[in-house]
Amino acid sequence: MNREKLIQHLRDLPANRRVITALDVPGQDEALNLADKLGTGGGFVKVGLELFSAAGPSVVRELRQKDRNVFLDLKYHDIPNTVASAARQAAAMGASFCTMHASAGRSAITAAAEALATAELPEGAVRPALLAVTVLTSLSEEEISEVRPSDDNLDDSVQRLARLAWDCGCDGLVCSPADLPKLRDAVGDEPLVITPGIRMAGAATDDQHRVTTPRMAVDSGADFLVVGRPISKADDPAAALNAIAQDME
Ligand code: C5P
Repeated sequence: MNREKLIQHLRDLPANRRVITALDVPGQDEALNLADKLGTGGGFVKVGLELFSAAGPSVVRELRQKDRNVFLDLKYHDIPNTVASAARQAAAMGASFCTMHASAGRSAITAAAEALATAELPEGAVRPALLAVTVLTSLSEEEISEVRPSDDNLDDSVQRLARLAWDCGCDGLVCSPADLPKLRDAVGDEPLVITPGIRMAGAATDDQHRVTTPRMAVDSGADFLVVGRPISKADDPAAALNAIAQDME
């Protein structure tokens, strides 16, 4: 599926399928157990580095068996051949999204996008969307200057890397809700944007410093939301997910 069609297909999903529940758990049993509590068929779940390091492709396949769509958040950052090969593996697992660092560079982003465009997919699957991370939101200006001294300020770096990733064929970007307006200024409305740091009004913020409500994130231009503890720690995760989806609408 070409980029324009894939983006439209994902954007057209109902709100309850544009909430990605983060399976921030240490093993396959816990992940499948949480996924079972989410209710909606076809809902999206995030498999990140911790869960993938513990459970590998098997957990992705098991989640697919349960009609879950997988946001495979492994943030590739390597030479073009390796990144492209990893992206092909994500496609073969039936992931719906995979992520990489935009700072891996033009050749690596282009190679990953091309690999996904031609990857073999499980029967009936849609190819994964390639999402780029610009600057990790956990990095302070001081830390950034230690690893990459530059006259760019943080906002300049986010905008420059976002434009690069979009020009090289990625389908979307991951960013904090606070960075969303300047990201949209840089790349326009076309790219998908996925944001974490979501809390319902008045809810506990946990360790997140800056949080946004689902409605505010969507109003600022987010297409998908990544939500962890507000769903996973709720007494009724399916109800918590639905409340978030309703707030988005
Ligand atoms: O529990 P909570 O909703 O805070 O979890 C948010 C999810 O989004 C976690 O999986 C976290 O790793 C991820 N994330 C984040 N902030 C970023 C990037 C990713 O919270 N800047």
